[in-house]
Amino acid sequence: MKKKRKLRKGRILLLVLVIVLFISSLLYFLLPRNYGYRKETIDVFKEENIYNKIMDKKKYSKTLEMVVLSNSFNEEYLDEYLEINYVESDDSFINDINKLLSLGYKSKEINVFYENIPDSISVIVNNRYNSNITNYLNLNYFIEDNLDRYIKYENNDTKFDSIYNTDVIKENYNYEDTVTFVNAYLDRDYYSNDINLSNEEASAIDVIVNKYYKLNENYEPSDLVTIDSKFASNNQRLRKEAADKFEEMAADALASGIKIYAGSTYRSYDYQLDLYNRYVLQDGFAEAETYSARAGYSEHQLGLAVDVLNGDWQYLSENDDEYTWLIDNSYKYGFILRYPRNKEYVTGYMFEDWHFRYLGVELANKVKLSGLTYDEYVARGV
Ligand code: DAL
Ligand code: ZN
Repeated sequence: MKKKRKLRKGRILLLVLVIVLFISSLLYFLLPRNYGYRKETIDVFKEENIYNKIMDKKKYSKTLEMVVLSNSFNEEYLDEYLEINYVESDDSFINDINKLLSLGYKSKEINVFYENIPDSISVIVNNRYNSNITNYLNLNYFIEDNLDRYIKYENNDTKFDSIYNTDVIKENYNYEDTVTFVNAYLDRDYYSNDINLSNEEASAIDVIVNKYYKLNENYEPSDLVTIDSKFASNNQRLRKEAADKFEEMAADALASGIKIYAGSTYRSYDYQLDLYNRYVLQDGFAEAETYSARAGYSEHQLGLAVDVLNGDWQYLSENDDEYTWLIDNSYKYGFILRYPRNKEYVTGYMFEDWHFRYLGVELANKVKLSGLTYDEYVARGV
């Protein structure tokens, strides 16, 4: 009994289905196909003589409908309108998508912008075309507030007169660099964008100090100790942790037949001021700027930087075995080469083969592995 009833029910259902299908196909062939556009819209399509063109696309698009109804239709962008997802809440949507299209953006990019950074559409509209915006968004260190600067930087609409030749950087330049460099303030002149570090911030082992991050005049680390004279010239002081690691490193180097000494370490604000002024008198302002920090901008004031001497008590040079040993080993003790070659523009300093910065073992390992300067590493750490 039950089975029979089921069978009958099935047959009825099938019949209904066939009838529905038949009627729908009949309607499909007989009725004009407007793909869901409202009558009012169809009338406008006809008035504007674009009805056939639009119907040929065989597709409903709310964006297209709204563009036409608001008298903003541009035939050139017909295919793009069809693919742009309509955004309900935004009054300026139609205006903005027309501007974006005229700048050269495609529907795919426009959809990504509205999905991911709807509050920054005006930034994009008010700049020149930039093909990398969707790439910027994929970086985990992308900062939406910096978008305007990323676009201007990459479009060369930023004024930054570097004291360095930027050719090397620009040769291998990509969108990751754009985001990194702008995060690091490299779209602004050195010393033009002081971020004043509190003394508490300055006392963190991983603090960054460069031509944008400034120390207080009165900052002095509280745990400075004198380095064992076996491994340093007279009265060289570093923060305790860095001094211990430097001694350990120098001792291990010595065990492998490599002699290194700490030549210049902690320098107070006043000492750095004198030093910088002396260099300016000696070599002129432009040259001094390439190798000496202004007072308040030196890592030496942190008690975490060492200018290393070789076995002959000379400042380390890249041709020295001591240099090679340090490049291969210093990160294991928490030290990194802070101002590498070809990164002059990023660090703000010439290649200093002698200047090493203590960051702690864990962080130094990470920075070494990244292949980045510490400035870039920090700029990607957001
Ligand atoms: N020579 C480095 C940049 C300093 O003066 O701190
Ligand atoms: Zn130094």
